[in-house]
Amino acid sequence: MKVLGSADELSELDALRGPGPLVLVPTMGALHEGHLELVRHARKLGPAVVSIFVNPTQFGPEEDFAAYPRDLASDLELLEPLGVEAVYAPAVDEMYGDSEGVSIRPGHRARGLCGAGRPGHFSGVLTVVAKLFGLLRPEVAVFGRKDAQQCLVIGQMVADLKMPVKLVDVPTVREDDGLALSSRNRYLNEDQRRRAVCLSRALRRARELLDAGEREAAPLRMAMGQELAEADSLEYAEVRQVPDLQENDRLSGRILLAVAARIGPARLIDNMVLEIAEHGVNDSSFFGAGRET
Ligand code: PAJ
Repeated sequence: MKVLGSADELSELDALRGPGPLVLVPTMGALHEGHLELVRHARKLGPAVVSIFVNPTQFGPEEDFAAYPRDLASDLELLEPLGVEAVYAPAVDEMYGDSEGVSIRPGHRARGLCGAGRPGHFSGVLTVVAKLFGLLRPEVAVFGRKDAQQCLVIGQMVADLKMPVKLVDVPTVREDDGLALSSRNRYLNEDQRRRAVCLSRALRRARELLDAGEREAAPLRMAMGQELAEADSLEYAEVRQVPDLQENDRLSGRILLAVAARIGPARLIDNMVLEIAEHGVNDSSFFGAGRET
């Protein structure tokens, strides 16, 4: 496994370009089983490169950029046995030489949900993802469905800017009790960890209502809000259409159940993407075969 730290070294990736696609898994490190699942998926598609970069521009001034866990040595240890071809772990200066450089303005999909509570966040995400695509030139990039709005906002960038990369989304990896794995779960003490399960419980509760035939958004929102009473503060509990995240009172087709709440020091999110079909409700995806980005 090659560990590359600067753009000059990236020509080493040329040896990996071949008939199969080069597959990129962008991360901010502090790797957990969720990230590793993305990597395993990537490996099935072609030679895999993992980027590890805590991206300053996607954190707000009051957010946890400084406190965000960083442990490159243990991340490399986790990646080594998975057969990753290369890890790209640049310094901040390498990615952002000029503080007044070009950035990407996200489209309408970034307006609500996390975009409302984290101004500038998706511009930071898109800017760094575009730089990674430019530097590493992957044919495929793999993202987690846990960060649903991120998937959709990146999908819109790739489509609108005609970027030659295929996107793949991977289901959320969870703890046994349902809590979605997140690097930020490390911030939780025992009591907070126990309460954090209310996010996934809220999604499950809404799914149960859908399974029982509910097709109005309001009762789903209310049920999710009730489950989230255990959080220290609720940021949102929403039901949106996929891919454009519009709010419909009556639900059909692909929908997103989306929750965000603060538990102690951690801002946690969770998401579920579902397809409402004539005969019931099924798990769905963002970039499934033949789907628009
Ligand atoms: P990070 O939070 O490190 O996540 C990297 C990737 O892992 C994202 O695609 C995310 O959706 C996925 N992921 C996180 N938890 C997961 C889980 N429990 N199950 C499955 N996948 C999971 O997302 C980012 O970094 C950054 O915004 C990034 C895209 C790297 C840009 O800086």
